[in-house]
Amino acid sequence: MVFESNVHFDEVANYYERLREDVYLDDIMDVMKKYTTKNDLLMDIASGTGRISTNVCRSLNLRLILVDKNIHMLNVAMKKINMQRKMDKLINMNIYEFLKDGGKTDNVKINDIDIFTCFNAIHWTGLGLFKKLEEKMAPGSLFVVLTRTKKQNNKSFFGLNFPKFADKETRLFSLDQLLDEFKRCNLSVVDTKFLKHQILQKKSKLLEQAKKKSYSTFSLYSNEEYEKAMRIFKDNISSMPEMLDVRYENLLIIGKKL
Ligand SMILES: C[S@@+](CC[C@H](N)C(=O)[O-])C[C@H]1O[C@@H](n2cnc3c(N)ncnc32)[C@H](O)[C@@H]1O
Repeated sequence: MVFESNVHFDEVANYYERLREDVYLDDIMDVMKKYTTKNDLLMDIASGTGRISTNVCRSLNLRLILVDKNIHMLNVAMKKINMQRKMDKLINMNIYEFLKDGGKTDNVKINDIDIFTCFNAIHWTGLGLFKKLEEKMAPGSLFVVLTRTKKQNNKSFFGLNFPKFADKETRLFSLDQLLDEFKRCNLSVVDTKFLKHQILQKKSKLLEQAKKKSYSTFSLYSNEEYEKAMRIFKDNISSMPEMLDVRYENLLIIGKKL
């Protein structure tokens, strides 16, 4: 099933940040600080609310441009940016249109960008982004992808406990698919990290994540299917303790344009 991202993100924008975990933030910063220099310009593609990139840029002293096609997600980002860093920029556009226009919208010159990131969104943009982006990237600039692989998704809490969650999510890629795409597009892979975390999480938060569809995978179900899956999920977790040991696994890959 193919579905339009705006419908889902219009609905979740206002509570997205509260519901999604950011256990991997420190790891991302640790890796990225090796490859960035103060004042570098970072463009976060499909940035959403800037949940990750606003923190990375503040901590590493980078300038930030957020690009997202969903205005509600960007509105959440705008409130944070107004409060924190007035020099950051937001672009409400589909990344493919932005790249087609030569990346010159709003006085942004794509050639000036040192780092491109795509966090938790390559399954939205598709692998086609690699080539389109690489054609416009300046030599020496970086493309940083954070995602969960199909395998990692299958082993996630919802993959294991929410009926059909693993099967429904057909958009994710494998490590090899991603590495092949970096290679095919002449982006040299300079770092690959598997991020693994285990944290104690309240059962009520996990339930709320499923109820409020914090992962777009939940929007891939028909209403009827989702209601049924929710009933089984509630049943599955009813005998579990109030605090659950939840594992999060993600993959971070950094490629460099030669
Ligand atoms: C799962 S969210 C990730 C948001 C953020 N990067 C994060 O990690 O919290 C995916 C985002 O991708 C955006 N998106 C999907 N396709 C896009 C496209 N072609 N161009 C720009 N944004 C896109 C959606 O609007 C949504 O905000």
